Amino acid sequence: MKDVTLFRRRLLDWYAVNARTLSWRGAGDPYLVWVSEIMLQQTTTQTVEGYFNRFITAFPTIQSLAAAELDSVNRLWEGLGYYRRCSQLHQAAKIIVNQYGGVFPRNEDTVRKLPGIGRYTANAVLSIAFDRQLPILEANTQRLYARLTALRSDPAEKKANDALWHFAESLLPKTGSGRFNQALMDLGSLVCTAKNPLCLSDAVLFGRGSVCPAAGFCQAAKLGLQKDIPLQKIRERAAECSELAVLINRRSRTLLVRYPQGVRWAGLWDFPRTAFEAADTVGKKLAAMTGYHILLGEDITVLKHSVTKYRITLHFCRGVITGHKNAAQYETRWATADEMQTLPMNSTARKLVRLISG
Ligand code: ADE
Repeated sequence: MKDVTLFRRRLLDWYAVNARTLSWRGAGDPYLVWVSEIMLQQTTTQTVEGYFNRFITAFPTIQSLAAAELDSVNRLWEGLGYYRRCSQLHQAAKIIVNQYGGVFPRNEDTVRKLPGIGRYTANAVLSIAFDRQLPILEANTQRLYARLTALRSDPAEKKANDALWHFAESLLPKTGSGRFNQALMDLGSLVCTAKNPLCLSDAVLFGRGSVCPAAGFCQAAKLGLQKDIPLQKIRERAAECSELAVLINRRSRTLLVRYPQGVRWAGLWDFPRTAFEAADTVGKKLAAMTGYHILLGEDITVLKHSVTKYRITLHFCRGVITGHKNAAQYETRWATADEMQTLPMNSTARKLVRLISG
């Protein structure tokens, strides 16, 4: 970029007026920034607001998070998805308490070694909380930098990605990088949007001035390529598949299984659930999982949901136990109605619990 100093000034002037008000901003507390950044990796600022406030109320400090049971941490994460990030956050809090006296480290290499913290998260926390001069690259800024530099290749490719990190570095002011990085993210989120970036709005096209502080600095805008950059990856079609979850009651309790470490939903509870293929393989899989022979009964409901590139039809039906208990692959428990409210579950299991508890 030619006149970086002028670009910085324009961006910061724009940010002074347009900065989003977000719960984790302003306190300069690395713990708050860290939690928010992990949550923001998977969803929008709007969704994160609610989760963040509940989480920080329950675990206001690194110490309180480290001392908590993973079940209660997972329960507050429920619905955000990517539960591995939650367990890594919990593990990292324990490491900070045990090895660094409960103080979030300031050293980049130390931060990067914590579970679940990569280059982006480390740089975001260190720049925002401690004003370290470190660049960031996440979804919003990736799109913004790709347009500013008129990047013609897929920003996820190694070479292009390296170039974007390098560009991000070249933009940073000596001081105030935390504020500057947040301004870049807000510009990406509010103006340089994925679809219909505001520089193409009617007000701009009819000559009433630009809403974008990067006007004049943006190579994509100069070439009229805002809609073509960044290059869109051709999406794979979602694969259709079916799953079956079973409601098994004994007196007033319900059979639940807990996913072991190393699999999807590790640590969360669910109704016994398996891929839905031929009826006899379903029976075998449920028996291996729970240790019980289960006879499937009437349907209760069908839910459709998507996970990454799968479109899943989930059949929920009743089941009864017909055989002896063998060794179970999964931890099982007969949960009371109250326990079902407090145990951490995946989103569809939570929906099913709501359905059966009226
Ligand atoms: N997206 C990811 N991190 C963010 C932050 N700190 N502020 C705004 N948007 C973000």
